[in-house]
Amino acid sequence: MSTTVAEGTPSQEIKPLTERKAWATLTAHAEAMRNVHLRTLFADDPARGERFTAEAAGLFLDYSKNRITAETLQLLFELAAESGLAERIAAMFRGDKINMTEKRAVLHTALRAPNDATIFVDGNNVVPDVHQVLDKMTAFANRVRSGDWKGHTGKPIRNVINIGIGGSDLGPVMAYEALRHYSDRSMTFRFDSNVDSTDFAESVQGLNAEETLFIVSSKTFTTLETMTNANTARAWMLKELGGDESAIAKHFVAVSTNAVEVSKFGIDTANMFGFWDWVGGRYSMDSAIGLSTMIAVGPENFRAMLAGFHEIDEHFRTAPFEKNLPVLLGLLTVWYINLFGANTVAILPYEQYLKRFPAYLQQLTMESNGKHVTLEGARVNYETCPIYWGEPGTNGQHSFYQLIHQGTRLIPCDFIAFAKTLNPLGSHHDILLANVFAQAEALAFGKTADQVRAEGTPEWLVPHRVFEGNRPSNVILTDKLTPEVLGKLVALYEHSVFVQGTVWRVNSFDQWGVELGKALAQRIIPELESTAEPKLTHDSSTNNLIRRYRKTKA
Ligand code: F6P
Repeated sequence: MSTTVAEGTPSQEIKPLTERKAWATLTAHAEAMRNVHLRTLFADDPARGERFTAEAAGLFLDYSKNRITAETLQLLFELAAESGLAERIAAMFRGDKINMTEKRAVLHTALRAPNDATIFVDGNNVVPDVHQVLDKMTAFANRVRSGDWKGHTGKPIRNVINIGIGGSDLGPVMAYEALRHYSDRSMTFRFDSNVDSTDFAESVQGLNAEETLFIVSSKTFTTLETMTNANTARAWMLKELGGDESAIAKHFVAVSTNAVEVSKFGIDTANMFGFWDWVGGRYSMDSAIGLSTMIAVGPENFRAMLAGFHEIDEHFRTAPFEKNLPVLLGLLTVWYINLFGANTVAILPYEQYLKRFPAYLQQLTMESNGKHVTLEGARVNYETCPIYWGEPGTNGQHSFYQLIHQGTRLIPCDFIAFAKTLNPLGSHHDILLANVFAQAEALAFGKTADQVRAEGTPEWLVPHRVFEGNRPSNVILTDKLTPEVLGKLVALYEHSVFVQGTVWRVNSFDQWGVELGKALAQRIIPELESTAEPKLTHDSSTNNLIRRYRKTKA
């Protein structure tokens, strides 16, 4: 069967995953590898710790502690080739409409392209538009940071609250936390996302409205949570500032693709920062959705972040698969999910500033590849996206690492570490890094029963103290957390997601799975709010819960 994967993309014969030649070979190879221990792999090949590494744009990836051989890699590269990865990469960068269910190009890479690049969507070069918005953001961010942008009563803005959810929140929060070291410490940044009123109440707690700016970030400007919060913010601002509607223009700006709705809300479209339908929500932290990031860290740092993204984009686009970091990471994930039955991937940043990075990656990975049909609409007969989760080290070590070391599940781990800390204090950093290396070592090599006995452990306790090892991990080691490095890390995972989605042949760029719950909530809201007893026609469980809620709140 020949399939056209996207408008304008020359078709390559792509067979369903389990019918690809490399799949059969990989399955047989995985059987042979199933009981091979990392101890044996390292003993047989003492140089693998140097060989199974790759470096790009200052990111060093040690993938030697994976349950693989050179043959495994070769087969995975063959699988990638048979999956049409090279062509898919080219199609994405070219601006083909590879998001075929929404008939959209997928061009987050254009957001960080240099201004002399040319990338066409429907015959228009989008790069000048990107830079125009960046320049507008720069001018605005500079005005806010310098105090030149005044609130309604003439006071400079000191507090910025981003209102958004999903990609319009997780990216900005993660980036703010990650780059807090570079932020203007005289300003306060908060993020209001949840429709739970507590989130809004806490976001404005203790803030002077006269000095507060709301950035309403929503690609569609119709998202229920965001619009509810934005309306509450509007009412709060008017109440605090005496009800003068003209205050809104000074205290609200919008980031959206929907000028009509922005205008209806009462925000002057002169204070709207646009982006485009070819930027997916979860791929948008480097678009105008990053306005709060830019105000926090300044335009120069924001542009440095974009340069970091771009460096990895170029690496992904041009490097051979053997040296290509996102390709390696993506294929290793496929190896464990599809051939070893792993269900999750742990993301373990040993950098406190990256505390929201796992949460950010959850949307990026799971909203992208949490799909059960192929591009052709066929039900897959293999697993797709794993569950991504994690916490910063070393806290996780005193929480869930027990399960990774001695539990019954195989959990591939990504350790992310930095050679330099942004806050040097005594020996903290050596201790931190010693823990990264120790954890990866312990997971891989474990401790045998004989080793435990040799320590004088009584026989009855030996099984409890044995570490089987053979738990795979990657270590990503880089210099220090700068805006550039943050951009590189995010791009690394964006493209790894792309590689996985290509092998699984799913559309990594739509998110129909969030629609049904949204629609049902819209139907239930009036049933909860109605003063008369509503006629309920849901299932008996939902009807019962609604009645109970109505009774209790009354
Ligand atoms: O969760 C669904 C989703 O559409 C995400 O993809 C998106 O990031 C989020 O909602 C917010 O959407 P918007 O930016 O349009 O408010």
